[in-house]
Amino acid sequence: MRKIPLCIPYTGQEEIDAVSEVIRSGWYAHGPKNHEFEEGFAEYLGVKHAFSMNSCTSALHLAVEGLGITGEVILPSFTFVASANAVITGGARPVFADIRYDTCNIDPESIERLITPQTEAIMPVHFGGQSADMTAIMEIAEKHGLRVIEDSAETIGGTHHGRLTGTFGVGCFSFYPTKNLTTGEGGMLTTNDDELARKVKALLAHGIDKSTYEREDQEKAWYRSASRVGYNFRMSNILAAVGVEQLKKLSEMNRLRREKAARLTELLEDIPEITPPVEQPGNTHVYQMYTVRVAEGLDRDALVRGLNARGVGASIHFFPPVHHMKPYREGRYRQDELPVTEKVIREIVTLPMYPQLSEEDLVYMVESIQSTLAEIS
Ligand SMILES: Cc1ncc(COP(=O)(O)O)c(C=O)c1O
Repeated sequence: MRKIPLCIPYTGQEEIDAVSEVIRSGWYAHGPKNHEFEEGFAEYLGVKHAFSMNSCTSALHLAVEGLGITGEVILPSFTFVASANAVITGGARPVFADIRYDTCNIDPESIERLITPQTEAIMPVHFGGQSADMTAIMEIAEKHGLRVIEDSAETIGGTHHGRLTGTFGVGCFSFYPTKNLTTGEGGMLTTNDDELARKVKALLAHGIDKSTYEREDQEKAWYRSASRVGYNFRMSNILAAVGVEQLKKLSEMNRLRREKAARLTELLEDIPEITPPVEQPGNTHVYQMYTVRVAEGLDRDALVRGLNARGVGASIHFFPPVHHMKPYREGRYRQDELPVTEKVIREIVTLPMYPQLSEEDLVYMVESIQSTLAEIS
């Protein structure tokens, strides 16, 4: 039986050589490769500052804490729980908005309904490779004087009217293996705000302003006094070396994802029970996930199980939504009515999507959907 996992990292000899070089150099912890990765990432996005970290969750946490947000942050409930967790660990309170049915991205009208004097920030989550409606969100933020923290964990290289996600507000990215660029575990925070950059740099490394690597050549290399209470959210030099190589391949990886996604959409046209994902006009979708909807009345879970039984690594992202989870339910945090979220979570299926998918893989995936549907309908 053919095996098509949900995702496979697009790595090769370049990453292996880069890691070997770092190991031979003996500099394992945060070091020169982090600086190279950060400079390259900042240049790619066209922003002033980029900080590599151990995860996107840490980046989100530091965005909230670094901006000094202690009030409410509006975000979708339809997200990975890390988005909401980071609002709380960063020192603020989440408030849950609904999403738009077409893109599964936060609904600007829902954001407006939730704004109170306690609101300090909006955290759009760019779902599965596609930008949220940043035109509307930036307008709302400006009108109400709110900060914008973009959870761009799932969208690295996606654009909204030509502008890359993560460049509208504070950008937070994930390099988990399912993402468009991977370092195994890892994340990046990006910003044009010098004041925030200064704070984040210290907070991610125990509250110390200068890294070991930067202190190396200085007269008092041993001087490591903290300017604030901080964390250890650093990424190692070894993983940063992987990041440097992955960044060189990012545009090609995203081009291939778009190509495979377009072909899959074409192949799915003959299956009326399945609706392919929509690229909103003005957006460039980079398909970190390829999320379809099943027709009403169809047993979605049976479809996922049937596909898994045929070797197709289909899954569901996200279920349950955050407001159904124990730490977040029973009115602990404010929320809008969430009818679209409640509907979407019953209809979505994530199909495998990665640059290496072959024509045979795509055809097999579609045939597997057809045979499963015939079995369960
Ligand atoms: C929307 C979203 N936010 C945050 C995260 C957390 O990223 P990380 O695993 O790098 O902490 C993820 C993913 O895994 C995610 O999908």
